[in-house]
Amino acid sequence: MAIAFKQETFRDDFSYRNSPGNIRRFPFPFDRDEYMYSVNMEPHVRGRAGTVYENLIDVDEHYVAEMHDRALVLKEDPLRYQALPHMMSAQWDTLELLMEEQAAGYPDHFTLIRNGDQWRWINRPLGIDDSFTFGDASTLPYEPFEYITRQAQGDFCIVDQRDGNLWMDAGMVTTQADWSLDFDIGMNFMEWHGPVPLAHQIGVFDRALKFLLNLQQGKPTRRFNWTMTINPRLDTSPENYHKWGPDRRTVTPDNVGEKVHLRVELQSLWRLPRSNAILFVIRCYLMNMEELVTVPKWARRFPRVLKTLPPELIDYKGLTRYRETTIDWLSKYDDGAPTSPGI
Ligand code: HEM
Repeated sequence: MAIAFKQETFRDDFSYRNSPGNIRRFPFPFDRDEYMYSVNMEPHVRGRAGTVYENLIDVDEHYVAEMHDRALVLKEDPLRYQALPHMMSAQWDTLELLMEEQAAGYPDHFTLIRNGDQWRWINRPLGIDDSFTFGDASTLPYEPFEYITRQAQGDFCIVDQRDGNLWMDAGMVTTQADWSLDFDIGMNFMEWHGPVPLAHQIGVFDRALKFLLNLQQGKPTRRFNWTMTINPRLDTSPENYHKWGPDRRTVTPDNVGEKVHLRVELQSLWRLPRSNAILFVIRCYLMNMEELVTVPKWARRFPRVLKTLPPELIDYKGLTRYRETTIDWLSKYDDGAPTSPGI
């Protein structure tokens, strides 16, 4: 079915909103009233129509606006895209994967025509119709990874596997929750996860790395991560902290509903066929508190999660200044009824 793409902004006047249909498909990530880090990985398989799992690479009503925001970020700061020279075959793997998944999932919007190494890619929402030679970067306007991730929602890292570790050797990162590709490029799995509290001590990263080193082609895996963001801002990068950090002080009891957003990352991991690298997709979904409370079971559960969050996670996720105000605002929607595990 054709998607009605919205015109909206993730900066300045922040006109981003979810339609009622998009709220219904929001991937609310909590299956109980408390939250703690875990190795929460499951097979990334297709799910019901009308959910974010309908296709393995999800495109929604925010696609065009998100791609516009990415272009603005890259114009200001080209280092948000980087790929080390040995990653060229992984770049082509990624281009192929994203084109195939988008064309298969959304034939009204994307078409891929392959004739040997002569490929034609049609992206109707962005008005693109390009023919190129697969494997020859000079036939595209950007490097293959940059070309296709300017046309795909979410952030992307490609990690190279060697010496029993994973190395962040390429990325397109413009919608991140306060971490920097320019800082992390060339780091390994334990190094770039260095700042995360508690998870190292409880063995989460040892187990996750072991699992990923054995990830098989054709069997992608997924997990959720979440944080909160003030205003529907995609680019909450350390590079631009001066623009968004002070927003945390602007939350009042009157503006919680509109300003405070739950930010959910649906992360999928894919073994790539030629390079043996892993593509890490971080697909970001934003929903403000007014939208969240339209679903009673979410309105009941989310204040409980916030109340019981370990102090280290409150600090790491940057919630300290507005958590209490948000809990107070949400609490009027929590009638105290027990919630069912798993929903
Ligand atoms: C946070 C990258 C896979 C668990 C992060 C951060 C980065 C990152 C850059 C931010 C660290 C900072 O504060 O600077 C990646 C990449 C992965 C990957 C590229 C794929 C190869 C995983 C997996 C797990 C995991 C499989 C499973 C347990 C976490 C957790 C956090 C985190 C718990 C903290 C998030 C929060 O509280 O907001 N990751 N990660 N990561 N990562 Fe990963």
